Amino acid sequence: MHTAAKTGSTFALLTDLVAGGGVVVLSGAGLSTESGIPDYRGESGRKRPASPMTYQTFIGSAAARRRYWARSHLGWRHITGALPNTGHRAVAELQRHGLVAGIITQNVDGLHQAGGASGVVELHGGLDRVRCLSCGERSPRHALHLRLAAANPGWESATAEINPDGDAVLDDDLVGTFTIVDCGGCGGVLKPDVIFFGENVPRVRVQECYTMTERAALLLVLGSSLTVMSGYRFVRRATELAIPIAIVNQGATRGDAEAMVTLDAPLGPTLAALVAEVAT
Ligand SMILES: NC(=O)c1ccc[n+]([C@@H]2O[C@H](COP(=O)([O-])OP(=O)(O)OC[C@H]3O[C@@H](n4cnc5c(N)ncnc54)[C@H](O)[C@@H]3O)[C@@H](O)[C@H]2O)c1
Ligand SMILES: [Zn+2]
Repeated sequence: MHTAAKTGSTFALLTDLVAGGGVVVLSGAGLSTESGIPDYRGESGRKRPASPMTYQTFIGSAAARRRYWARSHLGWRHITGALPNTGHRAVAELQRHGLVAGIITQNVDGLHQAGGASGVVELHGGLDRVRCLSCGERSPRHALHLRLAAANPGWESATAEINPDGDAVLDDDLVGTFTIVDCGGCGGVLKPDVIFFGENVPRVRVQECYTMTERAALLLVLGSSLTVMSGYRFVRRATELAIPIAIVNQGATRGDAEAMVTLDAPLGPTLAALVAEVAT
């Protein structure tokens, strides 16, 4: 038994496990709420007005794509304006100290990388790039932003309410006046390079995450309710292999029963305290 466990302190047990190294981080939207980006199932997510776009809706209707890009165009500056928080920086710090074997994130905001982490596997892709559904070419979102701005002069000042995560509330009449742009190379439909609800993560990416999980000394879940099977399956795999799991999350998660340690606490201060213990 770990010495820390005898003290009965959950934080001390977490510290003990992380200090052993070989940590694979599995992060979720809760890690970015302290940067002002709402999650889905926590406190901040409950205030969301709209349900997320599904893959089938996006693919199936030009009107849905227009609505998506109109809202997303308005909200883009909020996403690009978000800064990494203490939690993101703490994960990067643990990595610099050689304690982290891998980082799998369900987030699409790029804040792990902005906080100094490297080799991050973006399970659900990233909003900073777009992909053509016909020729497959990836291009920077910034370039699309400039093209959309040119195609819709004055649009950004004609705005409605904008949520901090980049979802703008727009009425249908206004959306109808938005002009979307297609792939510069082939004229195909452009989609943000993220996995929508109803879409599968590419198999190689899933396999890469399974391999990371299988080699972990500890699976450390940060800010995820684990409601989405896409992330939860790595908790399942760790459980099958008797790899310890630690969860830091405000509120319950689907993985709680499988975890050796669960800590219901805000991520920024908790991870900063963890770094102070193990990586200074
Ligand atoms: N930032 C982003 O990129 C972003 C934002 C929203 C949703 N998403 C996507 O939606 C899906 C959501 O699933 P999920 O499991 O990642 O998120 P989730 O919304 O299901 O769960 C987030 C959890 O984090 C907790 N939490 C929130 N702030 C916290 C804090 N400061 N400290 C500790 N805990 C905190 C919440 O209580 C909640 O239990 C993911 O697939 C993700 O790709 C991404
Ligand atoms: Zn194309």
